[in-house]
Amino acid sequence: MVVGTTKRQADATPYAASLIEGMRDFGYTLETAMADVIDNSITARASRVEIIAETTTDEPWIAIADNGAGMTELELIEAMRPGSKNPLKEREGHDLGRFGLGLKSASFSQCRQLTVISRKGGVTSAATWDLDKVAETNDWRVDLEDDLSDIPALDRLPTTGTIVLWRKLDRLSTNFRHDSAKRSAEINKAIVLAESHLKLCFHRYMEGGRPALRILLNDRRLSPIDPFAIDHMATQVDPEERLPLRNGEVVTQCFTLPHHKKMSKPAWEELGGPEGHLRTQGFYIYRERRLIIAGSWLGLARQTELTKLARVRVDIPNTMDADWKIDVRKASAQMPPVVRERLRKIVERLQGTSKRTYQRRGRKLVSEDSLPLWSRIQKDGGVVYRPNVDHPSIIGFGESLPEEFRHGFRVCINLLGTGLPIAALHADMLGSAESVISDEAEFVELADAAETAIRALLATGMTGNDVARTLCSTEPFIHHRDAIRRLIEDIEQGTHL
Ligand SMILES: Nc1ncnc2c1ncn2[C@@H]1O[C@H](COP(=O)(O)OP(=O)(O)OP(=O)(O)O)[C@@H](O)[C@H]1O
Ligand SMILES: [Mg+2]
Repeated sequence: MVVGTTKRQADATPYAASLIEGMRDFGYTLETAMADVIDNSITARASRVEIIAETTTDEPWIAIADNGAGMTELELIEAMRPGSKNPLKEREGHDLGRFGLGLKSASFSQCRQLTVISRKGGVTSAATWDLDKVAETNDWRVDLEDDLSDIPALDRLPTTGTIVLWRKLDRLSTNFRHDSAKRSAEINKAIVLAESHLKLCFHRYMEGGRPALRILLNDRRLSPIDPFAIDHMATQVDPEERLPLRNGEVVTQCFTLPHHKKMSKPAWEELGGPEGHLRTQGFYIYRERRLIIAGSWLGLARQTELTKLARVRVDIPNTMDADWKIDVRKASAQMPPVVRERLRKIVERLQGTSKRTYQRRGRKLVSEDSLPLWSRIQKDGGVVYRPNVDHPSIIGFGESLPEEFRHGFRVCINLLGTGLPIAALHADMLGSAESVISDEAEFVELADAAETAIRALLATGMTGNDVARTLCSTEPFIHHRDAIRRLIEDIEQGTHL
């Protein structure tokens, strides 16, 4: 017992054997554990990560090899230390770490023996934590390996880089310890699940960057899964919204996935994942471009059919870790209240207001006794807009054309209709519906079209008043009521030239 000048103190060094066992249960699964190890590879600027799983031998192992910066022996010893870095310390922008724990806690969640082999400046170093040994010695002493001959996967270590090797996989093969075939099947099943998690988790690193990150699983290159299907033509992409806060900027962007009929079945199913689209709508939260939370409205809304195709990307920097209460696994977070409010608005907008407004407007367009230039048609559970080729202006002009041009004219009109920039309109409307205005033509530009329509309608026996009411209730004539009335009078009286 030590007596201090002001207070008495006692030695409370943690018991290595108990604490290291406690580090096994932070709530990792194989997929989140692998992702945590790959985080370190990305922070070390690796462009290639290889996962090798040997599941058929009596002593199965999993290795994750990268071609990142590697470590010297001293750096490696530091890396093996639980709590190797202070969570309060500022990290560089590309650093995916925070707690100085992940390598150890992720590995121990899956295995009882962790060996890290690293090569830097032509020197190879290796160190091992063996939980059985720590249990015996109750000592925080890591084994340094001088003889690397019995280390599997060593041939996968690049000129510079690191291998994280998991042996004694007790957590991955609990049930079938004595049946190697069943054990192998069990581990492989977990690896298959992990595969789709990794494709999603790191998709932004795998899609881009200089160079793009390549992740291989047993020599097979994994392709990224982009949860927003940005490359698909029919995906609706809204503008980014920025929320600057004291510790960093939160950037959100809404995406609406294409209707399933517009995608191939495998692409649609991959996007929905095993849980399907209803369960995968919502926010996708990325910390430094690494996905930490996927497909949840985070208590702000229920996952419903109405918003099934809506996915919102939320980007946060690592400077906001404390605000978001990021956990060691980088698999959970809590929203700061100000962000919560912003996201609530986004959800409300997606859920209803804009959609309902839009539907009301759409209905109004066709419900009145009017002649719209655009027809709103219910089709396949959705709505399509088409130019109204039966509008008297269009029919009238068509009929004024020589026979051989009429078909071409109709084709052009329909072409314009199919080219309606729905995605951009939708994005603009979601941004601010008021800011989307139709291009109001000057009456001089419309006069010919108006005259054709008026003559066509009068020819059907309608009165001048009826024609005026019908035409003036729709775009584009709605803005030129007086001029239309005068024109009708002129035409009726034969004074219009
Ligand atoms: N593959 C690797 N290449 C180079 N250095 C590594 C690698 N893996 C780990 N390190 C080093 O070991 C340290 C400890 O890693 P660990 O994952 O335990 O903590 P962290 O990444 O700093 O924080 P977190 O607990 O949030 O993951 C890292 O900070 C890094 O310096
Ligand atoms: Mg880490």
